[in-house]
Amino acid sequence: MADVPAPIDVTQTSEWHALQQHFEKIQSSGANLKSWFANDPQRVKKLSYDLSDLHFDLSKNLVSDETIKLLVALGKAVDLEGRRDAMFSGVHINTTEDRAVLHTALRRPASEAGSLIVDGQDAVADVHEVLDRMYAFANKVRSGEWKGVTGKKIENVVSIGIGGSDLGPVMVYEALKPYADAGINVRYVSNIDPNDMAEKVKGLDPETTLVIIVSKTFTTLETMTNAREAKAWLLEGLKSQGAIDGGDASVERAIKSHFVAVSTNLELVEQFGIDPQNAFGFWSWVGGRYSVDAAVGLSLIIAFGPEVFKDFLAGFHDLDTYFCETPLEQNVVALMGLLNVWYVNFYKAESHAVLPYDQYLHRFPAYLQQLTMESNGKSTRWDGTPVTCETGEIFWGEAGTNGQHAFYQLIHQGTRMIPADFIAFANTPNPTKDGEQDVHELFLGNFLAQTKALAFGKTADEVRAEGTAEWMVPARVFTGNRPTTSVFGEALTPHALGELIALYEHITFVEGTVWGLDSYDQWGVELGKQLAKQITPALHDDEALASQDESTKALIAYYRAHR
Ligand code: F6P
Repeated sequence: MADVPAPIDVTQTSEWHALQQHFEKIQSSGANLKSWFANDPQRVKKLSYDLSDLHFDLSKNLVSDETIKLLVALGKAVDLEGRRDAMFSGVHINTTEDRAVLHTALRRPASEAGSLIVDGQDAVADVHEVLDRMYAFANKVRSGEWKGVTGKKIENVVSIGIGGSDLGPVMVYEALKPYADAGINVRYVSNIDPNDMAEKVKGLDPETTLVIIVSKTFTTLETMTNAREAKAWLLEGLKSQGAIDGGDASVERAIKSHFVAVSTNLELVEQFGIDPQNAFGFWSWVGGRYSVDAAVGLSLIIAFGPEVFKDFLAGFHDLDTYFCETPLEQNVVALMGLLNVWYVNFYKAESHAVLPYDQYLHRFPAYLQQLTMESNGKSTRWDGTPVTCETGEIFWGEAGTNGQHAFYQLIHQGTRMIPADFIAFANTPNPTKDGEQDVHELFLGNFLAQTKALAFGKTADEVRAEGTAEWMVPARVFTGNRPTTSVFGEALTPHALGELIALYEHITFVEGTVWGLDSYDQWGVELGKQLAKQITPALHDDEALASQDESTKALIAYYRAHR
């Protein structure tokens, strides 16, 4: 805590009170999106922002010029800029773990080596040393120079990890599939449910499979269990195919040729039998959910190549630079974070939808769930005191238009207000026509229609004009005034994806800062892990069962009776 000032209680600031009064004024005046648009022809222009790859339209949010001014003042009141600079410079703002928070160092260019000394180490030089080794390794695998134990080229990669060691790589692998050019497929195993591993190795030939074990700690129950299972699968497969004789030397050779690791715990990696030459490290100052641009992205470099990964990192870095250098008043990244605070704390929104209109981003909402909710789902501030307002909204979503046929009903006409981010791209790598109709245009038409319907709705008079029976009119009215942000890009390139991820990393940071949270620890996942170790023996052992609570005992009784 030494270098980190105690959090400011945001709810006690005059800026918070001003926002509360402003909110009440909006409510009582009946001001809404329709009136804001009608009264201000400059609204869209004023609330639009451009980054190198992404265009942002914030105009369909429930804000006036005054709201933006007050939100910016709130950001300043909690010293958002000071904490941002502290984070970027390596101050230990992760107070409960006494760590720096430097995922932003992962994407700094090599030319910045020497500019960031963290805990006595040159962070940027260290990052590039590992990146260069990863690029060299990936190139060998891609070209076929790296061979399996029987001399065959690698055709499939199985990446084993969970949480931050899985969600980021899976999401990016899906998002950038059009860039996969080496004929190497990656399958991701995360769940400890044996079904996951069984399905993922189905049909794979151990002789042409490379396994990457990704775990920051190299102790995570799921990952280590799956890693051992993968080892058994690979060795048994090789033996049964007569590819190895099963003697110690052949087993050692097979593991060295087919297993690599990504971890901060290189000692445990070596104990697993993996050649330290084939281990790629990262650092305690990279949180799991902020690590897709660290060595955790190794599978991506193998699938897409170093140049794609370099573009991806450049996208992150450009967004970081923008976030650091743009005054809060025009800083769309900070504004999106502050808008979320506006909705959570004043409109009492409980959730936030993220709706990518791009099938390649279908895992983006799942990825964001860990990023945002493991970061800000907290009741204690960074100095150990309780929070003073609601924190951590629920993030969820689904790729458009699938969501339209599932849960949009609730967003349009439900009783809860659900702010939503729509993400779309002007170009697709798969242009097609249905007769004369450009299918991508049809898709984009849906994105535009949804944000319009949510903002402006449909009045009772408009419904009546369609000849609807009077008793049915209320059911067909759309109140509108439901807030959305549109993020529009030219194309889902590696660079744009890097910008998009960094955008949400920093939105999460902004919200956490206002609420006084250490967004970089995750103590809330520990208790379940501890109890799982204690309860698992009770599934078959009476002594362990005796100490369980009555509900757990009853569930175990059901299990024993039905297995
Ligand atoms: O879910 C808790 C967590 O610690 C995440 O923060 C992390 O991403 C995940 O487990 C996996 O941890 P590791 O990379 O150490 O295996």
